Amino acid sequence: MMFCKTDEQVEQMRAAARLVSSSLTMAAGMLKPGLDTLSVDKAIADFIRDHGAVPSFLNYHGYPFNTCISVNDVVVHGFPNKKPLKEGDIVSIDVGVILNGWHGDHAYTFAIGDPGADVMQLIRVTKESLYKGIEKAVVGNYTGDIGYAIQEHTEKKHGYGVVRELVGHGLGKNLHEDPQIPNYGKRGTGKKLKDGLVLAIEPMINMGKKDVFTESDGWTVRTRDGKPSVHFEHDVCVRKSKADILSDYSIIEKAERANPDLFTESAVSSAQSAL
Ligand code: MF3
Ligand code: CO
Repeated sequence: MMFCKTDEQVEQMRAAARLVSSSLTMAAGMLKPGLDTLSVDKAIADFIRDHGAVPSFLNYHGYPFNTCISVNDVVVHGFPNKKPLKEGDIVSIDVGVILNGWHGDHAYTFAIGDPGADVMQLIRVTKESLYKGIEKAVVGNYTGDIGYAIQEHTEKKHGYGVVRELVGHGLGKNLHEDPQIPNYGKRGTGKKLKDGLVLAIEPMINMGKKDVFTESDGWTVRTRDGKPSVHFEHDVCVRKSKADILSDYSIIEKAERANPDLFTESAVSSAQSAL
């Protein structure tokens, strides 16, 4: 069942998405070598609760933490832990909130120090692919158009692995609503997009092969070849000529650039404004 949102509901969802963006901005300010990801999880949970919302991942199908923090070869659903971050790590932080009954759910990948040019390129291309997918999130297009755009840019153009087992999704009163949004696909196939549909589009792109496995903890998804993986996610509302991006990377990018412990590329940061 696909739920299209009224304009008023979209504004409530924008507030939820922006609270996630603000919490990621706060996290961007604290990331540094030596910090452990459990501290990041705790800080984000406090931030969310201080803003009158609740972390939505905690206890979702038994998920045991507030956030998912996925380092290097962890694709998604990484458990926050006491292991200190080190120079050259890449860290995807995925945050979900429920604010006034509405879900926000998005993610951003940070580089602690310099992970090397090849990994920075993976970060840049994955973020670019997210915007290429978002460009297709307009009324009358199909979910397959979004997946096709993401796959073209990452797999076809750069030879990266597109994870098949995990997909983007509709978002609303529930964390996961129809339709599913694979990061691969054929143009003109899948579900037809309607005005007011809110989608979480989330490419998970591997430096090497597409294959992943889930650890015995039942959650942690890793690349089979041990190579790094990058994850970016935005919440967007399907509209007629241009999708409305509800989450806000500009504040996260500003905090990222202001933090000398984080490695950034200006080309990456300009992806959003280029649209
Ligand atoms: N962004 C992820 C998703 O959309 C986060 C879910 S993690 C879980 O599926 F813990 F909530 F399951
Ligand atoms: Co999601």
